[in-house]
Amino acid sequence: MAAADSFYLLYREIARSCSCYMEALALVGAWYTARKSITVICDFYSLIRLHFIPRLVSRADLIKHYGSWAVVSGATDGIGRAYAEELASRGLNIVLVSRNQDKLQMVAKDIADTYSVETDIIVADFSNGREIYDPIREALKDKDIGILVNNVGVFYPYPQYFTQVSEDTLWDIINVNIAAASVMVHIVLPGMVERRKGAVVTISSGSCCKPTPQLAAFSASKAYLDHFSRALQYEYASKGIFVQSLIPFCVATNVTAPGSFLHKCSWLVPSPKVYAHHAVSTLGISKRTTGYWSHSIQVTACAQLL
Ligand SMILES: NC(=O)c1ccc[n+]([C@@H]2O[C@H](COP(=O)([O-])OP(=O)(O)OC[C@H]3O[C@@H](n4cnc5c(N)ncnc54)[C@H](OP(=O)(O)O)[C@@H]3O)[C@@H](O)[C@H]2O)c1
Repeated sequence: MAAADSFYLLYREIARSCSCYMEALALVGAWYTARKSITVICDFYSLIRLHFIPRLVSRADLIKHYGSWAVVSGATDGIGRAYAEELASRGLNIVLVSRNQDKLQMVAKDIADTYSVETDIIVADFSNGREIYDPIREALKDKDIGILVNNVGVFYPYPQYFTQVSEDTLWDIINVNIAAASVMVHIVLPGMVERRKGAVVTISSGSCCKPTPQLAAFSASKAYLDHFSRALQYEYASKGIFVQSLIPFCVATNVTAPGSFLHKCSWLVPSPKVYAHHAVSTLGISKRTTGYWSHSIQVTACAQLL
């Protein structure tokens, strides 16, 4: 009988404590769900505010806000060319910088004819390092550069373990992905600060957000660009300069294997033209964005899942 009593008491004690635990767990669950719901609602609101509303209202006057010339590095193909065209469609004159003179002349003429703006070209191979910057500084010295687009970038030929990456590729990543943006900003920023207006857009990559195995040096170089831009924004916002870190996911350029399935899924992987159109509409609004609505959904989904 004593044993049955104590079993009954034990059962009652356990049931009472469990109901306390259940209530505590229910509270934790409700708090977690409320927090996640608020985050999702805020993210959804930011998505609409950043990617849709600016395209409904009239387009910002970029010349008035920043100045009449833009410099775009890596401007003859892919995102760089599309970004240059989008800025030209808004009336900005464009300085295009890339390696190939013939391609530069062709694209510059195309942009000038299509959008009735002035264009200029600078032939420079950013992989050559320090020696190329004096001529660039000289070529830009008489121009009031309002917008600098640090677009040029190189990628691995394919994902590789670090020791399999050639030393040439590593130097290209350092010179083209890291040094080019840093020195180009060093060249144009003093003029912008003097005029108390200007914008610096740096194209990083979604791979900057997490260390990416088999793209170690590439993702690290993009993380550098992202941190660099964000720090510059803190330093120069009060001087009238808008600094934006763009972190696109896949865009259908030569880098993403033309003909592959990526190029067929246009809402996930936009064309450079569509991407640039969306990204430019975020200029002056977001200091750090993917630049494209479905890429922002991917970031939000990853953040919720991880
Ligand atoms: N495509 C994507 O899915 C994606 C995703 C995230 C981030 N991004 C970033 O977006 C940027 C543009 O990528 P993209 O896909 O548009 O590249 P892309 O189509 O390969 O175009 C690269 C441009 O850069 C120029 N260029 C390449 N190496 C150069 C060098 N050493 N010196 C001077 N110019 C050089 C090329 O012109 P020439 O060959 O005529 O010199 C071309 O105009 C890169 O920074 C990339 O990391 C791309």
